Amino acid sequence: MRINRGICGKLQGGFLRRWWAAVAAGALLIIFAGVLAALFPNIMELIINREVSIREGSRSYGWWKAPPIVPRMNIYIYNVTNADEFLNNGDKPIVDELGPYVYLQKWDKTNITFNDNGTVSYNVRKRFVFSEELSSGLSEDDLVIVPNVPMLSATSQSRHAARFLRLAMASIMDILKIKPFVEVSIGQLLWGYDDPLLKLAKDVVPKEQKLPYDQFGLLYGKNGTHPDMYTVFTGTSDITKYGMMDRWNGKDSFQHWTTDQCDNILGGDGSIFPPHISKQTVLKVFDKDLCRTLPLVFKEEVATAGDVPGYRFVPPKDVFASADRISAQECYCPSGPPCAPEGTFNVSKCQYDSPVLLSFPHFYLADPALREAVVGISPPDAEKHQFFIDVQPLMGTTLRARARVQINLAVSQVRDIKQVASFPDIIFPIMWFEDGVDGLPEEVTSLLKMAVDVPPIARAGLAGAMAAAGIIVLVGALFCLARAAKRQEKLHLSNPLPPGMTKQGNINPGFQGPTK
Ligand SMILES: *[C@@H]1O[C@H](CO)[C@@H](O)[C@H](O)[C@H]1NC(C)=O
Ligand SMILES: *[C@@H]1O[C@H](CO)[C@@H](O)[C@H](O)[C@H]1NC(C)=O
Ligand SMILES: *[C@@H]1O[C@H](CO)[C@@H](O)[C@H](O)[C@H]1NC(C)=O
Ligand SMILES: *[C@@H]1O[C@H](CO)[C@@H](O)[C@H](O)[C@H]1NC(C)=O
Ligand SMILES: *[C@@H]1O[C@H](CO)[C@@H](O)[C@H](O)[C@H]1NC(C)=O
Repeated sequence: MRINRGICGKLQGGFLRRWWAAVAAGALLIIFAGVLAALFPNIMELIINREVSIREGSRSYGWWKAPPIVPRMNIYIYNVTNADEFLNNGDKPIVDELGPYVYLQKWDKTNITFNDNGTVSYNVRKRFVFSEELSSGLSEDDLVIVPNVPMLSATSQSRHAARFLRLAMASIMDILKIKPFVEVSIGQLLWGYDDPLLKLAKDVVPKEQKLPYDQFGLLYGKNGTHPDMYTVFTGTSDITKYGMMDRWNGKDSFQHWTTDQCDNILGGDGSIFPPHISKQTVLKVFDKDLCRTLPLVFKEEVATAGDVPGYRFVPPKDVFASADRISAQECYCPSGPPCAPEGTFNVSKCQYDSPVLLSFPHFYLADPALREAVVGISPPDAEKHQFFIDVQPLMGTTLRARARVQINLAVSQVRDIKQVASFPDIIFPIMWFEDGVDGLPEEVTSLLKMAVDVPPIARAGLAGAMAAAGIIVLVGALFCLARAAKRQEKLHLSNPLPPGMTKQGNINPGFQGPTK
């Protein structure tokens, strides 16, 4: 009672002279708390949009420029163990999957130029270093026997050419002693070896049709700064395009496919996506080796390193469906039927017309007949062979990824060229790789975790504290108001007390009246 009287007295006597002011303040605080709770997600969205966008000096800029990760490329080569029996007796090819040959990478962006229209241009530099330790004793010097890709590309392409050209080709290959299978080291197969046919082509073919190099390698030219110029949206003007490709070497489309939609380059590089991803979002990854963007759809919620929850996105099941089955795929088959078989994607348009078909490793999601055409490839397993990206949905950051692709050569039988006369029509698997990131560094994951965990707590805490303060002020003020009203009532009801008397009827010692 005494405390109450004290507070009420203070409220009455202090700057909040009127009870109503206190009531209004309390009510306002409660309303503010409600508004804050309601607007908090929008406020966070603004903060996130500002934080993620690519701006010089922002915290994420450094991570974007030189990602603080060590991507790892695992490479598996299909070593052909019965090349002679295959060619001479018509046996099914037997392959032995070797690997993983592991390369650790360092990625960064060079020559970064910010443009006026909310885009940034740059070149990509990737460095690959072989890790003997992680390759469990395998060596880049291991010798393997694989199809002679430049030769079989040339012969397969010649099947529609004039017959005399094919015969001429056969005699040139005779002189140069070119065989349908080559024995090369892993290092050569990946990073390049001198190929007599490419060298010849470079010397004799007219300049405009020339291949840009005289070496052949599956990853040729990928170690170092790539001349491709990327222009991507920074997200400062339109966050929904954050990290998406605007121009690629100055072009705004691939210029390979028959519809604008299939030809569109608008996709991310796989490391960042526009923030605020939902389970319905379709992520698009720009992949220049695939010559298209790869759509990814939500599969499941996953936990990633550092306990950051993520969404797993994978390519839809029919992403490489054949045009015969799904007509929407016809845009990827510009020269008309026959189109690439189920589960493969024809990239010859952007591989100098080499008959290269990409698929997922072990022909995952492809026609099983393709895998059964060779001996030695185990049935595909989503766990090991599925392409996936785990993203943090709020920020759009990739937490973990496995870009898994298999390279196959679509060989056509050409009877006029005697070296390959017995090489049947076949889709020959050459190798597959997985380019992966396992986790982001601690500094990034802890920040991401904070971005996920803190806002709900902050929202509840801030709004809760504000509402609680409002309620206390409101209730206190109402209580005092009630008391004051009651006293006022009493004062009015009873006759005015003589001075010196409180309403309780006690005699105030200071006003006892004269005693003398
Ligand atoms: C690849 O296969 C060939 C032929 O069977 C064999 O001689 C060679 O040792 C194999 N390479 C490796 C690295 O196992
Ligand atoms: C840097 O970019 C400019 C265009 O903005 C280009 O002309 C130049 O060749 C690039 N330099 C390197 C080293 O890639
Ligand atoms: C933005 O500017 C760059 C460089 O000037 C240009 O290449 C690109 O096409 C522009 N993009 C848009 C969407 O205007
Ligand atoms: C890639 O280039 C770097 C030098 O820039 C070199 O040290 C490294 O060995 C190269 N990697 C391969 C696989 O050739
Ligand atoms: C791949 O595409 C090229 C060019 O469009 C075409 O000539 C070739 O026949 C196609 N190959 C397959 C196996 O569909």
